Amino acid sequence: MFLNYLNFLKPCILRSLISRKVWKLPRVILITLNIVLSVAVFFLCKSLNRYQESFRQTSLLRNWPIPKVEIEQFDARFMPEAQGPSKATEIVFIGGQGSVSDMEAWILCTFAKSSLNVFEFGTFAGKTTYLLAKNAPKKGKIFTLTLAPEGHSAYKASKGDNAKDTKSALHESIFNTFYYTNTPVASKITQLFADSKLFDESPYVGKMDLIFIDGSHAHSYVESDTQKALKMLKPGGVIFWHDYRGPNRVPGVFQTLNKLQKDLNLVHIAGTNLVAYKKP
Ligand SMILES: C[S@@+](CC[C@H](N)C(=O)[O-])C[C@H]1O[C@@H](n2cnc3c(N)ncnc32)[C@H](O)[C@@H]1O
Repeated sequence: MFLNYLNFLKPCILRSLISRKVWKLPRVILITLNIVLSVAVFFLCKSLNRYQESFRQTSLLRNWPIPKVEIEQFDARFMPEAQGPSKATEIVFIGGQGSVSDMEAWILCTFAKSSLNVFEFGTFAGKTTYLLAKNAPKKGKIFTLTLAPEGHSAYKASKGDNAKDTKSALHESIFNTFYYTNTPVASKITQLFADSKLFDESPYVGKMDLIFIDGSHAHSYVESDTQKALKMLKPGGVIFWHDYRGPNRVPGVFQTLNKLQKDLNLVHIAGTNLVAYKKP
């Protein structure tokens, strides 16, 4: 009976396939399916990208040589109280957009609270500078060094610097006035304009309690800024580097710090892109 039914259907199917009306229907369905599939593939790729980033951050796919520690392991002030975060880490704070994350700002500002002299490589818009100044003691001083928009010609890339790192260093050198300009804390801040390789660190040697290295992320600059910072740091002082984000995102910082880790006791602060060093 079924075969009979098929025999009856065959000419009908053929006829309808030949007729253009029926051909039109599958074409519309095919085009719609195509659009739906393309949109689905687009969103799938996007979310895979996000997962890939978080896999990298959790070191599942790549080798991140600098050991990860919780902030309270690095500094006892961050040890939580029974009911919540330690009050020793209370800071003045503005959330929202900025170059550093909220957690990174919290850590930097907690250290600024006990720092008479702070040095920042790379000011950008100056929001972190402002927060450092707001949280530093009354007599605290913040020195912040940046490349002026009209100073691009002083920038000297070296062999081995990643072109992407160099491009963003220049792309970010656009500010002449800053977030802290004309605020009450501006008097605590000394703005320095120079290419950091040409910057003479000798007046600051052995004086800094806290140094934040966040200038050009190209390998030769991170290396040069680090060598200067190590000379400028007081015993007991702390250096933080920003943007330890793995081999693909900011390669200059990743390579330089991984190399430096062979000689210095560096730690990667969990939940951040900060690497830290405390001078004995
Ligand atoms: C990532 S941004 C700094 C962000 C800032 N620390 C903050 O937390 O908002 C990098 C900064 O480094 C500066 N910079 C880039 N190359 C430099 C160089 N060769 N010498 C000095 N500063 C440089 C840029 O002008 C830019 O302000």
